[in-house]
Amino acid sequence: MSNWSHRHVLDLSTFSVDDYSSVLELANRFRALPRTGARKLPALQGKLVATLFFEPSTRTRSSFELAAKSLSADVQSFSPSNSSISKGETPLDTALTYVAMGADLLIVRHSSSNVPEQLANSLEQRGAKTAILNGGDGFHSHPSQGLLDLFTLATFFNPKSPLPSTLLGKRIVIVGDILHSRVARSNLWALTACGADVVLCGPPSLVPEQFANFVDAPPPGQAEDPIQKRGQILIMRPLKEALKGADAVMTLRLQKERMNQNLLTDLNRYHIDYGITHKSLEWCGKPIPVLHPGPVNRGVEISSSLLNDRSICLIEKQVSNGISIRMALLYLMAAIESN
Ligand code: CP
Repeated sequence: MSNWSHRHVLDLSTFSVDDYSSVLELANRFRALPRTGARKLPALQGKLVATLFFEPSTRTRSSFELAAKSLSADVQSFSPSNSSISKGETPLDTALTYVAMGADLLIVRHSSSNVPEQLANSLEQRGAKTAILNGGDGFHSHPSQGLLDLFTLATFFNPKSPLPSTLLGKRIVIVGDILHSRVARSNLWALTACGADVVLCGPPSLVPEQFANFVDAPPPGQAEDPIQKRGQILIMRPLKEALKGADAVMTLRLQKERMNQNLLTDLNRYHIDYGITHKSLEWCGKPIPVLHPGPVNRGVEISSSLLNDRSICLIEKQVSNGISIRMALLYLMAAIESN
């Protein structure tokens, strides 16, 4: 069924079109299944999945835990504030502790970029079989979010067959704090891989010009891009110009916790210039869906009334699709581990 070869899932820059197809096809099958009760799937029976979230999360952690339980895994969660991290234990020693307890898969979130990759390398060097799945690291990457956003868009455009090809030639606008967003970076890899053109919109302090070249070369240390022809990345500053002809828009939270300088002083001005509202959507020229990865600053990047309008805003679909996507990732990774 699949040529899946990712023992660890750290970043979408290494994903081929086949990889995206495998995840979306499986997620589409899992979407239709019951997630609780006696009819759980046995795929991860006997496996221990631990969620090592060194940074807070509501959606990602809970949906990974639900996904793992739906596949019959044992699940152990970890809370840094009640853990030995507060006594100075390092993320590596924490990870090794869970490996020693028999964890087959660690889902890792950290505020510093590349911590999941460093853990994966350290475990490989020690000969540990435990797989690492990146649950979001610093500005760098949030692969399961990029995949669930892709799945949500593919399902919107083609509910019967939500495959990567559904995105070919689509124009997807991402508005807001791209600079600090691991979600935007994962979406850039995923959407351009599927042939979508991505328009980035925001002030220069949050959308630097260099993002136009973001997917032009593989990241350092990666030999080649597995995608032959990617969609384009365009930068447009005025929201009105960016939204013209758009097929979907994703708006992002201003990530104040990652801003080490005061890049924005006036949130009201930001809302006027870049806030997504029923009114600004009129510039698209046709009805389009609105995505938001959450959590939301209501009334800043999106109006409260639009957020509540589930005929346009797909935020709840993104959350429920997140469980199916995470089931698909766990399923594919567990299959590798068993080989
Ligand atoms: N989208 C996302 O990563 O949300 P959480 O921080 O709640 O996991």
